[in-house]
Amino acid sequence: MSDKVIIFDTTLRDGEQSPGASMNTAEKLRLASQLEDLGVDVIEAGFPAASDGDFEAVSKIAQKLTRCEVAGLCRTAKKDIDKAWGAVQHAAKPRIHTFIATSDIHMKYKLNMSREKVVKTAIEAVQYAKSFTGSVEFSAEDGSRTDRDFLCEIFGAAISAGATTVNLPDTVGYAIPEEFSALVKYVMTHTPGIDRAVLSVHCHNDLGLATSNTLAAISAGARQAEVTINGIGERAGNTSLEEVVMSLKTRPNFFPMTTNIDTTRIYPLSRLVSMITGIIVQPNKAIVGANAFAHEAGIHQDGVLKNPMTYEIMRPETIGLASNKLILGKHSGRHALHSHLKEMGYDLADDELMAVFIKFKELADKKKHVLDEDLESLVTEEVLRTPDIFKLEYIQVTSGNTVMPTASVRLIINERPVKDSGHGNGPIDAAYNTIAKLTGTESELLRFSVTALSGGTDSQGEVTVRLRENGLIALGRGADPDIITASAKAYINGLNRLEYLKRNPVNTHEVV
Ligand code: KIV
Ligand code: ZN
Repeated sequence: MSDKVIIFDTTLRDGEQSPGASMNTAEKLRLASQLEDLGVDVIEAGFPAASDGDFEAVSKIAQKLTRCEVAGLCRTAKKDIDKAWGAVQHAAKPRIHTFIATSDIHMKYKLNMSREKVVKTAIEAVQYAKSFTGSVEFSAEDGSRTDRDFLCEIFGAAISAGATTVNLPDTVGYAIPEEFSALVKYVMTHTPGIDRAVLSVHCHNDLGLATSNTLAAISAGARQAEVTINGIGERAGNTSLEEVVMSLKTRPNFFPMTTNIDTTRIYPLSRLVSMITGIIVQPNKAIVGANAFAHEAGIHQDGVLKNPMTYEIMRPETIGLASNKLILGKHSGRHALHSHLKEMGYDLADDELMAVFIKFKELADKKKHVLDEDLESLVTEEVLRTPDIFKLEYIQVTSGNTVMPTASVRLIINERPVKDSGHGNGPIDAAYNTIAKLTGTESELLRFSVTALSGGTDSQGEVTVRLRENGLIALGRGADPDIITASAKAYINGLNRLEYLKRNPVNTHEVV
C-alpha cells in the first residue's frame, strides 16, 4: 500500500457551506491558487449544478490550475454530471465527484429508493462520468451509518463501473475513531477490487472527532483525506487540513506516511481563509489559533527559552508562523513592504503592491507601528477581497452625548458615486441606516462584534457582522484604526456578499 496520503481540499465546496461563508469567484480563484501552492493534490472547487456562480468559479479554477486535480461535485443525475464535466473539462487534471446516499435512513426518507435502485443509479452515474474523464470519485453519503456489507457492495460496484476513488463520508459527524477504523479495515478487506481504487474519508466535526476519525482511517488503510483549511464546513465543519497534515508530520513513527504539503504555507493560508470568509479562527484552535504557540505559564516560558522542545512539539516556523515579526513605520519604503509581504506569503503583482502601499502609508500616518496583522488586513481589503458592487469612498460621523448621531456617507455603487446622510441612535446605527438607504438594502443585523487586531490603543479595530436578508445569510469583515469606519467596511462587505448570493441563488434544497 502506498505511503502517500492524498490531500483533497474541499474548502471551496464543503467549506463554503459554512453558514454565511460565501466567496465570490475572484476570491475563490485566489484561494485555489494558494491551495495549489500549498501542495494539495485535489481541489474540490465547487458544486457546479448548485448555481451559475458555482459553475463559473469551478470552470475558472479548472482553467487556471496546472498542477493539482480539480474536482466538481455532482449528484448522480445526468444533468448534474454534465454540469460538473462542463465546469472541469478544461482542467489539466479534471475529476468528477459523484455521490448518492447509502444509509437506510437516507435511502428511505430522503431518496425513497431501494438498495438495488441506489446501486444501479451509482453504477450508471460512475459509468457516465467515466465517459468524460479517467478520474472519477464515488461517495457513499452517510457512509458511516450505512450497513457495512451494503457499503462494500456499492463501493465494489462503483469500482467495476470505473471509480478510481471511493469515498467514505462521516456525513453527520457520528463516528467514533475505534469504530471508524474498524469500518475502514472492513471496507479494505471486503470490497471487491479495492486494490484498484483509493479509499478516501470525509469527516464532519459534530462531536469534535473529525481529525481523530480521519487519522484512525489513515492508519487503517485510507489513502485520501478530505479536509478544509481551519476546518470550516457544513455545521460544525470538516476535518481540518492543518491538523491532519501536522499530525502526520509530527508523529512519523506512528504515521509512516507522507503528503505533498509545504507546511510553511499553512499559517498564511489559514489567515487568508479567515480574512476572505470572515470566519474567525478560535484562539485555542490547534496549529493555527492565536494561542497555539503562546506560552503563558512562567515555568513553560522558562523551559521553552532553555530548549523549545520542552513544551513545543512543533516549531512555529514549520507552519509558516514568522517568529520575528517586522514592524514597519511611515518611513518604510515600497521595497521593504514588498519583501516583508513576500515573507508573509503574499507575492503581489506591481499594481497590487502599489494599491497596498498607498493604504499602508495612510495607515502609517495614523498609527506609529504597522504590524503583520495590519498588513494582512490591508492586503485582504485592497487585493484579495473583491467588492462586488458597493465600495466605501468616505464616511464622516458626528456623535456625542449632546448631539443626534449623524453620518454622511459616500459610496461607489456599480462605478457611480452616491452620497447621503442619516441619523441613528448611535454612530454605528447612523452609519448603517445611511448605508442601507444608499444601497436600497433591508438586511437584518444578526451579529456585530469588535476586536483589536493587535495590542495598544492605536490598534486597528476589526469588526465582523452577520447579516440576513430574505433568508440569505452573509458574514462581513472590516478593519480600520477608526472603529466606525471599520464597522462601515464590515457592513458593506456583508452587503456585497448578500448581493453575490442574490445574484447566484444556490438551490438549497438540493445542496448537501
Ligand atoms: O458530507 C458529505 O457526505 C459530503 C459528500 C458530498 C462527500 O460532503
Ligand atoms: Zn461533507
